[in-house]
Amino acid sequence: MTEQSMANHQAKTIVSKEEFLRINENAAHEMSMDKQLQGKALEVLVQADRHRWIHQNTWFGEPLLNLPQDMFAIQDIIWRTRPDFVIEVGVAWGGGMLFEATLLEILGGKKVIGIDIFIPPDLRQRLSSHRKLSERFELIEGSSTSADTLTRVKALLGGSRKVLVILDSNHTHEHVLNELRTYAPLVEKGQYLICGDTIVEHMPPQLHVVRPWGPGNNPATAVKQFLSETDRFVVDEKIDRRQLFSCHPGGYLQAVK
Ligand SMILES: C[S@@+](CC[C@H](N)C(=O)[O-])C[C@H]1O[C@@H](n2cnc3c(N)ncnc32)[C@H](O)[C@@H]1O
Repeated sequence: MTEQSMANHQAKTIVSKEEFLRINENAAHEMSMDKQLQGKALEVLVQADRHRWIHQNTWFGEPLLNLPQDMFAIQDIIWRTRPDFVIEVGVAWGGGMLFEATLLEILGGKKVIGIDIFIPPDLRQRLSSHRKLSERFELIEGSSTSADTLTRVKALLGGSRKVLVILDSNHTHEHVLNELRTYAPLVEKGQYLICGDTIVEHMPPQLHVVRPWGPGNNPATAVKQFLSETDRFVVDEKIDRRQLFSCHPGGYLQAVK
């Protein structure tokens, strides 16, 4: 062994993986308590939103509207919980679906069900060009909260409740609350229901003037009401603590019953 490889070997064995993760968890807890740092991170998010930061990521060439930190959180959830199905409510450009299909392909899940009120023909065409991954998509055109959509979703699930739901469509309080109530029963104990874009609650109202949502009327307010109605779900604060940059703070809900 060379001196350098011996040093590397020692560095790897001094701290076990469990210890490494424990150190990180403590550090994440401290980071979450650092209000100055959290404030600066929010400031960066607000400033960067003016430059369409979250619109600039792609997965295998398809745009997706999410931050890398949130994608890592979704990857971690899928790795730990191994859902059969992911339901992506709000498809947009399809990159989010493709990302989740990649993970299901590797880890052995079944399908990603995408729901959107508008699915342009070129999206179907693009999603069908991703070789093996294309077989993992089911697209439903319709409103997420309509009875017809729910019937079609249930038919695809075929009774499975090993389901990860990601809500990311219309962000008004009323619509998201309706979605939370509609999709929560599809999720079994241990699985997750992610409520997207809770960050709207913390953004300056002028950023959303052309939208029907904003501070006081958004996914975060819907989650608050939903959690007051049920004891089946809790916020996974461990995820929140390590994010620093996230579009979904307080939105990672895990079913505990
Ligand atoms: C923020 S984008 C989704 C982004 C996507 N999840 C991603 O990660 O790239 C919101 C999408 O929700 C869709 N949408 C809006 N209202 C909806 C509704 N009532 N039901 C289903 N989809 C809806 C819009 O057409 C739009 O494509």
